[in-house]
Amino acid sequence: MTRAWRLPAALVLLSLVPVVAGSLRLVEVAGGTQSLSTNPRVDASPAPVVVHILAAALYAFLGAFQFSARLRRRRPGWHRVCGRVLVGTGLGVAGSALWMTLYYPGAPGGDLLWGIRLVVGSAMAAAIVLGFAAIRRRDIAAHRAWMIRAYALAVGAGTQVLTQGIGEPLFGTSDLSTALSVGSGWVVNAIVAEWAIRRSSPAGPRRRAPATRRADPAASS
Ligand code: HEM
Repeated sequence: MTRAWRLPAALVLLSLVPVVAGSLRLVEVAGGTQSLSTNPRVDASPAPVVVHILAAALYAFLGAFQFSARLRRRRPGWHRVCGRVLVGTGLGVAGSALWMTLYYPGAPGGDLLWGIRLVVGSAMAAAIVLGFAAIRRRDIAAHRAWMIRAYALAVGAGTQVLTQGIGEPLFGTSDLSTALSVGSGWVVNAIVAEWAIRRSSPAGPRRRAPATRRADPAASS
């Protein structure tokens, strides 16, 4: 695999577990075999979770390829068309997540996770709207930053496989430990996103003036 595809491939891999779990849930909702533990909220009201899973799978997988600089350079039309699809699917993920948070009763994680989900779902939707508004006024740096933030929050579902995988055996499955292990998946992704945004921004380390020029006394003042 060439270097250009490494990041999209890693992002697809990150979302693989929740997307596969979601596909198994869709099979079950469609009347097929049940391979996951029962979720009474999905049994009582499957429509929002169906929208959530379909939108999330498209957003996570298609979105991963928006990070390929080569694809953006060689096929700007693809980036634009995909981007429009991703605005729709991203708002579908955030909207269905907020809907389920508000109307699915008694989800694990208690009030703390309920509050975290409201914040994350709203922040993801806001980041998509701000990213779209930024590209309409041709502000590429702001577009990039907001779209990275939105994607990072969405694929928190992938990082949560790791944070819950570590958190649950260590701290159990009380509401507090569930909220903390799920919430820390989003915190990790938000930190990585801010690092990625700063790393290649005009003021970031990559594009700073070389050390020799900065050491030049004529350049100071
Ligand atoms: C790539 C992104 C995402 C994927 C692949 C994904 C996947 C899933 C899946 C498969 C379920 C169904 C769980 C089950 O069947 O028991 C689910 C439920 C849910 N997701 Fe997501 N999700 C994503 C992003 C998000 C985001 C960003 C939020 C938060 C704001 C969120 C909030 C929820 C909520 C509230 C539920 C219902 C939980 C319950 O009551 O059991 N999801 N998600």
